[in-house]
Amino acid sequence: MESQSVSRARDTTDDRRSLPRGTGSPFETADPDGFAFARTLIETRRNVSPKRLVEPGPSPQQFEALMSLAAAAPDHGLLTPWRFIVVPASQRPALAEVFALALVDRDPGATLEQIESAREKAYRAPLLMVAVACLGPREPDIPRLERMISMGAAVQNILLGAHAMGFGAGLTSGQAMKSKRMHQLCGLGHEEWAVCCVNIGTVSRSKAGSRVRPLPADFVSELGSAPVVS
Ligand SMILES: Cc1cc2nc3c(=O)[nH]c(=O)nc-3n(C[C@H](O)[C@H](O)[C@H](O)COP(=O)(O)O)c2cc1C
Repeated sequence: MESQSVSRARDTTDDRRSLPRGTGSPFETADPDGFAFARTLIETRRNVSPKRLVEPGPSPQQFEALMSLAAAAPDHGLLTPWRFIVVPASQRPALAEVFALALVDRDPGATLEQIESAREKAYRAPLLMVAVACLGPREPDIPRLERMISMGAAVQNILLGAHAMGFGAGLTSGQAMKSKRMHQLCGLGHEEWAVCCVNIGTVSRSKAGSRVRPLPADFVSELGSAPVVS
């Protein structure tokens, strides 16, 4: 269902930007369908494997728009504790090499087929970015977990924006992300971590079936109603 239409976003983005600010949600009175739209957008997003992502990817304008959505993520202390490194076509061989060598580093017995499969992951989606968490001790001293929440929100904003534009998007990670080789390739600084890749493109084929999502009752409780764990 990842190709389900959510094109209303394209029509209304500019209108919404011009709504009065500072009086609470612009959807309160101006757009009674706001929640329904947000719900459709959020609930129809699916993780799309890069194997199923083909050209075209986002145009330069669409890319800029997606990055501005990332910039709207909640951010305690306004640290922008994350960044995204785009891997252009010219750099895909370097990324492929890192994926392959990181595999051999941790499994010297890896078969040629496994190494080739690791390498091939660098060439899949039209837009591939490495999402980097910046957890250094910058002032103010915002805890790492809070910074990771900001990063997750930035990533989710990008995923939802791509979905609203009609693209498929998916996250990929794996052991190579934390390898020294990846660190070097991305030029990461002290306390910077490559967390995952964000892959965006056109969905070539839909995946059957849908994910069973947890129910609110599975993850919501009321303070005082559960036994206290000591
Ligand atoms: C940080 C992060 C890394 C992920 N890495 C992978 C990955 O390596 N391979 C994969 O198939 N999915 C990966 N995912 C996607 C999840 O598998 C996916 O979100 C989950 O199955 C729920 O499906 P949904 O996003 O379609 O609701 C990752 C998700 C996150 C948040």
